[in-house]
Amino acid sequence: MKKTVFITGTSSGLGKLTAKYFASQGWNVAATMRTPEKETELTQYENIKIFKLDVTDIAQVNTAVAAAVAAFGKIDVVVNNAGAGTYGALELAKEETIDWQFATNVRGPINVIRAFLPHFRAQKGGKFINISSFMGVTTAVPVGSLYNMSKFALEGLTEGLYYELEPLNISLHLIEQGGSSGNSFVDKVIWNEHPEITDYEAITTRVRQMMQEAKNGPLDDPQTIVDAIYALATGASKQFRTVLSAMGNQLMEMRRSMPIENYLDTVAGWYK
Ligand SMILES: NC(=O)c1ccc[n+]([C@@H]2O[C@H](COP(=O)([O-])OP(=O)(O)OC[C@H]3O[C@@H](n4cnc5c(N)ncnc54)[C@H](OP(=O)(O)O)[C@@H]3O)[C@@H](O)[C@H]2O)c1
Repeated sequence: MKKTVFITGTSSGLGKLTAKYFASQGWNVAATMRTPEKETELTQYENIKIFKLDVTDIAQVNTAVAAAVAAFGKIDVVVNNAGAGTYGALELAKEETIDWQFATNVRGPINVIRAFLPHFRAQKGGKFINISSFMGVTTAVPVGSLYNMSKFALEGLTEGLYYELEPLNISLHLIEQGGSSGNSFVDKVIWNEHPEITDYEAITTRVRQMMQEAKNGPLDDPQTIVDAIYALATGASKQFRTVLSAMGNQLMEMRRSMPIENYLDTVAGWYK
């Protein structure tokens, strides 16, 4: 029987590439996105079905999951990929931006995981692959505390769930990526700014420049991330964290080997 993957956030970037790759390998794909009416590429695949899904809308999550299960009979793997970021000083963030960051990157995966658990329990197994970031295991970019918070929370959620889901044959995996070419993440960042508060301006400008340079420079090849997701989906590997970016590996090694005070000063020094 064909296997089926359910993916969130397939309108662009990693989500779209992952949907296309699984489809090319013969999988059924439940590709979900907020605006299916705009999609022209994934609609060309006979083994991809598109479902409308905003991960922050619990009713829509439950409807989409039920529709995907009804369409394919069984979902084997869920990729929690949908995500977005806000940068800029915490003090300058609007209340709704703070709530949005949590709703998108934390409550969203919670909604999807909870909607799938009855199905996974009934079929006595399943896999969740959660797309995190090296910003989920390190603090490497100033004025990124809200994004850090959201991905650290996703890490804690995933790690904490291990104990209740492992006995049910439901596996959990985290992908720590650092951005890949072809995604639109940086263009969609919500920047927290205030025309009269200038204390954070210099560091925010440096971070903005760094992000643009990284975007236009040699980011990770997205196929290496798709390959890692596919290997976890198809294999029996229990690997819990997969760190993909060279930058992420370097930062995690620094984090492991340095006292936190030295780590924080070293990273802060990069932006002075
Ligand atoms: N790119 C990076 O620098 C980077 C680095 C580390 C980790 N990540 C993580 O990698 C994942 C994929 O991002 P990407 O790099 O492929 O960026 P991307 O091209 O911006 O893709 C993000 C996807 O998430 C969707 N999304 C956002 N909010 C949503 C919501 N409320 N409900 C459903 N879908 C929503 C977007 O849909 P819309 O088109 O509707 O906005 C888009 O399809 C994210 O979790 C991100 O946090 C990215």
